[in-house]
Amino acid sequence: MKKIAIIGFGVVGSGVYEIIRRNKDILTKKAGEEIDVKKILDIRDFSAHEEAHLFTKDFNDLVNDGEIDIVVETMGGIKFAYDYTKALLEKGKSVVTSNKELVAAHGDEFFRIAKENNVRYLYEASVGGGIPIIRPLACDASANDIVEVSGILNGTTNYILTKMFKENDSFESALKTAQELGYAEKDPTADVDGIDASRKIAILMSLVTGKKFDCSLMHTEGIRNITAEDVTYAAAIGCTIKLIGCGYTKDGKVNASVEPMLIPENCPLAGVWDVFNGVMVTGNMVDSLMFYGRGAGKLPTASAVVGDVIDIVRNSSYNPYYSWGECDESAVIPYDEVTARFFVRIKEEQKEKVKEIFGDTEIIKGISDYGFVTAKMSVKELNCGIEKIGGAVSRMRLYR
Ligand code: HSE
Repeated sequence: MKKIAIIGFGVVGSGVYEIIRRNKDILTKKAGEEIDVKKILDIRDFSAHEEAHLFTKDFNDLVNDGEIDIVVETMGGIKFAYDYTKALLEKGKSVVTSNKELVAAHGDEFFRIAKENNVRYLYEASVGGGIPIIRPLACDASANDIVEVSGILNGTTNYILTKMFKENDSFESALKTAQELGYAEKDPTADVDGIDASRKIAILMSLVTGKKFDCSLMHTEGIRNITAEDVTYAAAIGCTIKLIGCGYTKDGKVNASVEPMLIPENCPLAGVWDVFNGVMVTGNMVDSLMFYGRGAGKLPTASAVVGDVIDIVRNSSYNPYYSWGECDESAVIPYDEVTARFFVRIKEEQKEKVKEIFGDTEIIKGISDYGFVTAKMSVKELNCGIEKIGGAVSRMRLYR
């Protein structure tokens, strides 16, 4: 019997407990031995829980328990989660997490400690909730040079954009509904300003390149400024708007960014609605792969956590393919050098200068102000053009 502990009995932690109880026989069969929860650490009162005896408020009860080999960290945040994870790995226990903030910020350090102690630090649930994406990148697609990873990595913002598109809702009203439905994180800033998505694309690109992609080096833009007019323009050019985490590699260098993008209706990502996530991976041999599913929620996310627990029960030794090393800032392609086509909205009176500054563009007519789509250019060239034309009402990158 393999005994595990859970730190944080919130949405995901309680989902892990539920899966271990409900799918007990399935888990035993797949792991090769029974998996049981021995302790749950949470500072809240669970004295009315049917297994109240499992709960403790004292971390020492877990870290000093020689019977516990695997600990699930679903508490989130950095402060305590960092100290607990470090202490557990140093004590020779494997850790499974859904905590993207912690993995993005300290994954490199934890992989090193895991290696020193020949245990594992797994994080499948930290990106895309229930969608398998870490393991496919680490294992199944490892015959490839992964040249691009891009996708919808935040369910809350995708839900908000869906409401704006399908129900003509405003950003504020859609955010309120998302909060009422419990989709948004405690503080919606991390979702709506793209911070949550930046952590997720940072994790994916760190895994792809083997070097930490520090979130502070990333262009990160959320969806607060998307208006009903932007939605109308997008529809006029056969596109939808999605918050995209996008990473690519080129000549040994890497870029990652998060920003709202215009997605052509025929792109598979355009069909990802509501709280669902979708990730596209391009490998130089396999071509394009698409991963789709529930990017958040109790049981989908817990399903990914328990999958990692089973993996560790089968093989508890450190595995280098899931890890990365320290950040190499010199290998980061500056956002200014990213090239794409861009949609630009300007005022009617600026339109005379468009041809002279941007050359031939695709003009979008029939809406209050004036919109056009540029030819492919770098962000730097775009910004120069916008400055010359006297500013823009809004601009947005086109996906591919
Ligand atoms: N707040 C996140 C989201 C939860 O909306 O996608 C899952 O990471």
